[in-house]
Amino acid sequence: MTVHGLFGPSPRAVHVWPVRVEAPEDVAASYESILAPDELDRAARFRLTNQRKDFVITRCVLRSVLGRYLGMHPARVRFVYGSKGKPAISPAFGIQFNLAHSGAMVVIAVAAGCPVGIDLEYIRRLPDLQDVAARFFCAEEFDDLKSLLPGERQGAFFRGWTRKEAFVKASGEGLSEPLDGFRVTIQPREPARLVHIGDNRDAAKGWTLHDLFLAPDYAAALAYPDRACSLTVFPMANSAELLSDDFFVMGLHLPLRGLARLHGSRHNDLPSHLTSKSAFAGDKSANISLHLERHTE
Ligand SMILES: CC(C)(COP(=O)(O)OP(=O)(O)OC[C@H]1O[C@@H](n2cnc3c(N)ncnc32)[C@H](O)[C@@H]1OP(=O)(O)O)[C@@H](O)C(=O)NCCC(=O)NCCS
Repeated sequence: MTVHGLFGPSPRAVHVWPVRVEAPEDVAASYESILAPDELDRAARFRLTNQRKDFVITRCVLRSVLGRYLGMHPARVRFVYGSKGKPAISPAFGIQFNLAHSGAMVVIAVAAGCPVGIDLEYIRRLPDLQDVAARFFCAEEFDDLKSLLPGERQGAFFRGWTRKEAFVKASGEGLSEPLDGFRVTIQPREPARLVHIGDNRDAAKGWTLHDLFLAPDYAAALAYPDRACSLTVFPMANSAELLSDDFFVMGLHLPLRGLARLHGSRHNDLPSHLTSKSAFAGDKSANISLHLERHTE
């Protein structure tokens, strides 16, 4: 029951879906029927209305994206959870995914052929940046950070943090894996790379790290235990658009036309129209609106 249709001919591919989460509370409530009982329980435990709403919308966005790959209505997607809480779908589908949220944005990575981890952070001033790095980065990363000019440190910190978190999210261990037990590059002009895991450099060579420039003021990184494979970054979508009625009515296979397919490219190779603008925000020239990719029949 593998689902490789949307991934094209490549047996190993990663798709990245950045989404702005926007929906009034009444709209969010109307989507609750899409969720499974355990998700509704979790939603009910949020004390703040906004957090509950964001969780509901995020889960529906995740379900709608996965539903496209699985060819099923979002409500029919079933999640299983790893021992550290990483959500997944049945291995029988041959698809793995991961999700991160920060600020008003969610990003979902869907992979064929290997596990995947993704992290996203809103870049903000951290008064205790040095202390956090001292606590969580390995000694060499911390030295790298201190060697930078003060103005470069915030960017390097968030680059390093997202690369590290993407790595521990790919394995599913999350923050139960000590973040100082491996090293990533953080210097401004160095490509994203896992340098060693423990003392093992060879083990690190089997991993790929990518930085993703998805929107201004956000850092994001992707990790998977494979050599660089085909990477497609979809234009920024808006949750309201993604969850529009036509999708829920249709809910089945969607062709992915007009996408930028980036074969093993790094973030700086991303065309600018894919890095920050929403295809729903009027960038008709790029012809990459997800609207155009939907079946209308
Ligand atoms: C996963 C983890 C790194 C996320 O960190 P974060 O910066 O707060 O959140 P992010 O936005 O990056 O990612 C959150 C998403 O990651 C996914 N996720 C949850 N656990 C995960 C794990 N162990 N590995 C990978 N991804 C995970 C979920 O989709 C989650 O979204 P949700 O909260 O809407 O369900 C952190 O929460 C963690 O380490 N969790 C594991 C805790 C643990 O050991 N639990 C054991 C008992 S279950």
